Amino acid sequence: MKRLFGVIGDPISHSMSPMMHNDAFKNLKIDGYYQPFRITPEDLATAIKGMKVIGIEGFNVTIPHKTSILPLVDRLDPLAKAIGAVNTVVRDGNDYVGYNSDGLGFIRSLQERWKKDFKNEKTLIIGAGGAAKAIYYSLASVGVKKIDICNRTTARAQGLVDHCPFKCETNILDFPQARQNLGAYTLVIQTTSIGMSPNINEIPFSLENMLPNTHAVDIIYNPLETKFLTEARQKGATTQNGIGMFVHQGAIAFEKWTGIKPDIIRMENIVMQHLG
Ligand code: ATR
Repeated sequence: MKRLFGVIGDPISHSMSPMMHNDAFKNLKIDGYYQPFRITPEDLATAIKGMKVIGIEGFNVTIPHKTSILPLVDRLDPLAKAIGAVNTVVRDGNDYVGYNSDGLGFIRSLQERWKKDFKNEKTLIIGAGGAAKAIYYSLASVGVKKIDICNRTTARAQGLVDHCPFKCETNILDFPQARQNLGAYTLVIQTTSIGMSPNINEIPFSLENMLPNTHAVDIIYNPLETKFLTEARQKGATTQNGIGMFVHQGAIAFEKWTGIKPDIIRMENIVMQHLG
């Protein structure tokens, strides 16, 4: 019988995950199928029960369910619990176990693309929303000892740091301070929605002080090239967009479900074809 997987969200029709995972099943000759399910918030609890009864082995979780699913799974991985968000559910016996592969996907993308020991970088995260939290907590959980954060609302950044169970030394900056001190960082991670389509001409702040030895990441992938990435490259920085993080979070989920590492380049090509 076909092994069943999927993604739940609302909206869900734009999701690139089905084509990525279904291609990997085909390529690896796994008799599996990955289906997008549009589930409204009111139906979430019923949907999870139904998925379990039907025999769905694992699924991804996207907006708006990443936090509201927490009490609905049987067990939570400690990192997902700390982040307070689940993007991957794996069936273990009769239990659904919640994981968060967003931040770990981000880390793998850095390792794979740049072959760098990012633990020694002087890191600045721009933003303090859900994505920033997943990245900060994941970096801290793998032993990064110092990460600074800047956000429009500094109190939100403070809250993010205060709730982190993994030890990490952090200075919190507002945007003018970050702009001023940008030369102090060798890894700058843009996690806000600033610059996302359709607001493609926006940037959190000027990168005039960024140094050429910097590695700059924007987790946005629509557009593929944000103003942040363009300015960073103009300053001589090495850059990457959000495709790597997206593909790797999916690959980690795929590995948890099947025990097999999918072909990352193939996954990336599928996503690029769709966006290109
Ligand atoms: P996500 O889950 O994608 O991270 P989020 O939790 O809504 O989304 O977080 C959005 C991030 O983008 C926050 O850091 C937010 O800053 P605030 O905490 O100050 O709201 C930031 N952001 C979004 N629009 C912004 C804007 N126009 N100017 C500055 N920051 C913005």
